[in-house]
Amino acid sequence: MTLKAVTAPRDKTPLSAPDALARLRDVRARTEALAAPLSAEDMVVQSMPDVSPTKWHLGHTTWFFETFLLKAFDKTYSEFDPAFCYLFNSYYDAVGERHPRPKRGLLTRPALDRVMAYRAEVSDAIAGLLKAAEGGKDWADITRLLSLGCHHEEQHQELLLADIKHVLYQNPLRPAYAQKPADPVRKTQKLSWMAYPEGVREIGHGGRGFAFDSEGPRHKVYVGAFQLASRPVSNSEYLEFIEDGGYRRPEFWLSDAWAHICDEGKCQPLYWEKRDGEWREFLMQGEHPLNPGAPVCHLSYYEADAYARWAGARLPTEAELEVMAVATKATAGEVWEWTSSAYSPYPGFKPAAGAVGEYNGKFMVGQMVLRSGSGATPPGHWRPTYRNFFYPPSAWQFTGLRLAREP
Ligand SMILES: [Fe+2]
Repeated sequence: MTLKAVTAPRDKTPLSAPDALARLRDVRARTEALAAPLSAEDMVVQSMPDVSPTKWHLGHTTWFFETFLLKAFDKTYSEFDPAFCYLFNSYYDAVGERHPRPKRGLLTRPALDRVMAYRAEVSDAIAGLLKAAEGGKDWADITRLLSLGCHHEEQHQELLLADIKHVLYQNPLRPAYAQKPADPVRKTQKLSWMAYPEGVREIGHGGRGFAFDSEGPRHKVYVGAFQLASRPVSNSEYLEFIEDGGYRRPEFWLSDAWAHICDEGKCQPLYWEKRDGEWREFLMQGEHPLNPGAPVCHLSYYEADAYARWAGARLPTEAELEVMAVATKATAGEVWEWTSSAYSPYPGFKPAAGAVGEYNGKFMVGQMVLRSGSGATPPGHWRPTYRNFFYPPSAWQFTGLRLAREP
């Protein structure tokens, strides 16, 4: 997908200036901590058009605050560098021309130091704005956009991790991002089925606390009786699909999916390799033997759908996963779970006014919704109404699946 679409916030309670500043500082520091294990060289590489270099994420998240907060509300603010709007605008047509996405990896300049100076200056300018504007006529709008900027930057924190994993994987040394041991070996847990009765359900964000605009309006949907697996599909289960010829049997694949895996010569998930008879997987901790009980990750929608058909089940809808998340008081999961739901507007959806309205609405074609959150989702960022979305062939995000079936 394009760089993660963020959108209009629904936070109705303005923060105090000290709380708003603390939130900003926390989010900005977390992004920098995620970049800290990387070298300046690591941070420039773009391994495919979908991937953005770390340095670009650092600049773009800053540009977002500069454009939508400082330039909009701080009359005394003067732009850090007029060239940066062209370099770090992701997809906002209303803001102007921009550097082509597939060429972000060619930005050897500005150097990392200058991007970090940009980050510091913009954060400090926001601190000044918050102090000066608290309680004034723009305060509700300022805190709303600050909140949006923080949630936007959190989305980029997960993208940054998925992107750098793809970058490091291209290196034959298979360097680890995280200098810590891989998770202990897990056995696949017994799967049970959770049954839900049919009924008219309410889904979508109801307006309390922050949500991106595409999570609402809250609305009623009829959901037939369904069953959901008690956990996502594991690596060992997905391996059974491969060993049963899953990638060679067109009967499991949608037409576009079959064409895609034939074109790519795909016969296993991204980051899986069989070497000397042993399946191995590239993780944030480098290359390790496949962990049988861990959730299968880095599946495309096409792969998730084919697996579900092979398993005699189906992908859940997003309404089903939201019903489950609410009923089980779920917290963020280990992998984003593909759903069979297209990323479309909920009834009554209206994009926000102005450039921020480009965040979600314009991406509502050809993409599929994922639910549940992943191990790379920042703490506190996920909610049961959260709608992530990617194109069906995309597999570089932390994406897996959970099975659904009729009773
Ligand atoms: Fe963005």
